[in-house]
Amino acid sequence: MNFKINSKIATAETIHTDFYMSAEIFEKSKESIFAKSWLYAADASVIKDNGLIHPTTLLKHVLDEPIVLTRDKSGDAHCLSNVCTHRGNLVAQESGSKQMLSCGYHGRCFHLDGKYKSMPGFEGVENFPRPEDNLHQIALEEALGLLFVNLDPSISFAEIIKPITKRLSWLPFDTMQYVEEKSTDYVVNGHWALYCDNYLEGFHVPFVHAGLNEALAFDEYDYEIYPHCNLQLGVAKEGEPCFDIPNSHSDYGKNIYAYYYWVWPNMMFNIYPWGLSLNLIEPLGLDLTLVRFRTYQFEGTEFDWTANQIDITELEDEAVVESVQEGIKSRFYTKGRYSASMEKCVHHFHQLLAKAIT
Ligand code: FES
Ligand SMILES: [Fe+2]
Repeated sequence: MNFKINSKIATAETIHTDFYMSAEIFEKSKESIFAKSWLYAADASVIKDNGLIHPTTLLKHVLDEPIVLTRDKSGDAHCLSNVCTHRGNLVAQESGSKQMLSCGYHGRCFHLDGKYKSMPGFEGVENFPRPEDNLHQIALEEALGLLFVNLDPSISFAEIIKPITKRLSWLPFDTMQYVEEKSTDYVVNGHWALYCDNYLEGFHVPFVHAGLNEALAFDEYDYEIYPHCNLQLGVAKEGEPCFDIPNSHSDYGKNIYAYYYWVWPNMMFNIYPWGLSLNLIEPLGLDLTLVRFRTYQFEGTEFDWTANQIDITELEDEAVVESVQEGIKSRFYTKGRYSASMEKCVHHFHQLLAKAIT
């Protein structure tokens, strides 16, 4: 299957519905997309002190990769394979403070940086330990107080999100605190990329989100494309909450309601004056998706939850995504066209999907 997307939006067609319908493509995307991309692993606080470890599974239904995040004695953070190099048992079973990682099956021990340390009963084993007897190292980067990992990186995460960190360097990301009671998981009956498609345009706001439409100046809504991420700039109507932007900044003078950044392939960083709403879009199956909303608040800001109406907006989005999931099964629909002014980010996403999968 060839999913090539014309790079000229005015003549391009949307990605073929086979992309969302084919189990074979879905399987292929696990390795072609997710196994090569930067993905959220945990908040940096899980390994904030030296000696802390945090085992987790990276994208349970997609990659199903057991990893363990550690901070060693010298303060360096690591992401390691959590699979023992002896016979494949899971090494770390729970989070906590540890001197070393010791496997509960036959007692192989590793330092917190993943290096082989000791093992009983291996006297006389030749050419041992070899480098491959260490726990496999996985690329790890910290950004905005969050930990991101990549099983097979070709570019750094810092480089990918440079457009965000450069533009928003004036915001107090280092003071951000996770707000558990404002964080929710949703399960959507739809393909993960349909959920992203919907996120990537504000075109539908006046039709689908009556409440949000009250707050946003639709005519000033804007789109910016970067290599591996894109931005939708939501501009507030008069009297609605907006950023207090320093006068030296290029956005000074604009009443910015939110910076909506999407980062390839499945992360959304919605940045509001009060903090960050991080959305993680995790496939559970071909037409079932887990959407994790994680809320982080800047120190000293008021949480204006009602004004943002994030949960109401989410349910409205889910309804339309589930309706599209039904629609794309039709034998009469395989592709559509893009609005050249308002669907630039969807076009960008489809081009990246096509490139990754073809
Ligand atoms: S599997 Fe870990 S020590 Fe044997
Ligand atoms: Fe929406």
